[in-house]
Amino acid sequence: MSQNELRFGIWALVHGNRAALHDPEEPYDASFARNRALVLEAERLGYATTLVAQHTANPLDRDLGQLEAWTTSAALAALTSRIEIIAAIKPYLYHPVVLAKMALQIEEISQGRFGLNLVNAWNRPELEKAGLPFAEHDARYTYGAEWLSVVSRLMSGEAVTHHGEHFHIDDYQLRPAGKFRRRPAIYVGGESEPARALVAAQGDVWFINGQPLDDVRGLIADLRARRRSGAPLRFGLSAFVIARPTQAEADVELARLAGLAHLDAPLRDIQRSNTDPAVVMMKT
Ligand SMILES: Cc1cc2nc3c(=O)[nH]c(=O)nc-3n(C[C@H](O)[C@H](O)[C@H](O)COP(=O)(O)O)c2cc1C
Repeated sequence: MSQNELRFGIWALVHGNRAALHDPEEPYDASFARNRALVLEAERLGYATTLVAQHTANPLDRDLGQLEAWTTSAALAALTSRIEIIAAIKPYLYHPVVLAKMALQIEEISQGRFGLNLVNAWNRPELEKAGLPFAEHDARYTYGAEWLSVVSRLMSGEAVTHHGEHFHIDDYQLRPAGKFRRRPAIYVGGESEPARALVAAQGDVWFINGQPLDDVRGLIADLRARRRSGAPLRFGLSAFVIARPTQAEADVELARLAGLAHLDAPLRDIQRSNTDPAVVMMKT
């Protein structure tokens, strides 16, 4: 893939809806069947990639269904033949050896079409109610950086010995590895300073939240100015699109969705109260 190649991807509908959660035209559906149909259609239409976000429980309403990222990605890998599959991962949920092994397995199933997206977590109860630590914002990145360094080396087929603050690993090696390329792709989603440092040091692609293009230019310039070894960093931008034949029809749809937003307000309040206020993404 060349540095300047523009690729389009789709989000898997892990939360069951595209926009408004209470949309009479789109009944809530986070099932695997729906996502399989969506990703197969995206592949047929020529989309290059799909991102499967990771949320173990639904962050808005725990009674709502939620698609699981890693098992779904493995299944999608087996069902597709061209589209890239990216699964998000919150490091506290899996030991790096287990996760690297899962990544290499999906890399093998997909024959070199897999990537992981490291995300730092914002939904406090997702971890805390499981008895897992939810450290402060920057400490989560410190943990994530150590975790990713182990995962990256294991995915590259190295025999890893690592004695750090959080992990002790002795001469661990995973196979098969390196059959299709050096290792699966590493994406990082997050905008704070430690997120930027992490992606500059260890990532292949930086995922940026949708925002005004001038702001995006500034973010990219900041990352391009940072020292790094290896290939130049690539960039991905999250965007939400209303596609209609005319601007007027798109405006009508936007107004319809905006008119439904008040129905979701109580759930958005729950999400807000569960979100770590230090998360930069939520402010931009
Ligand atoms: C493209 C993209 C995908 C993301 N996917 C997830 C996800 O699957 N699960 C999750 O908990 N957070 C996800 N996030 C949220 C980021 O990880 C978020 O930015 C982070 O929790 C806070 O980091 P920050 O303070 O550095 O922005 C995503 C962010 C972006 C930009």
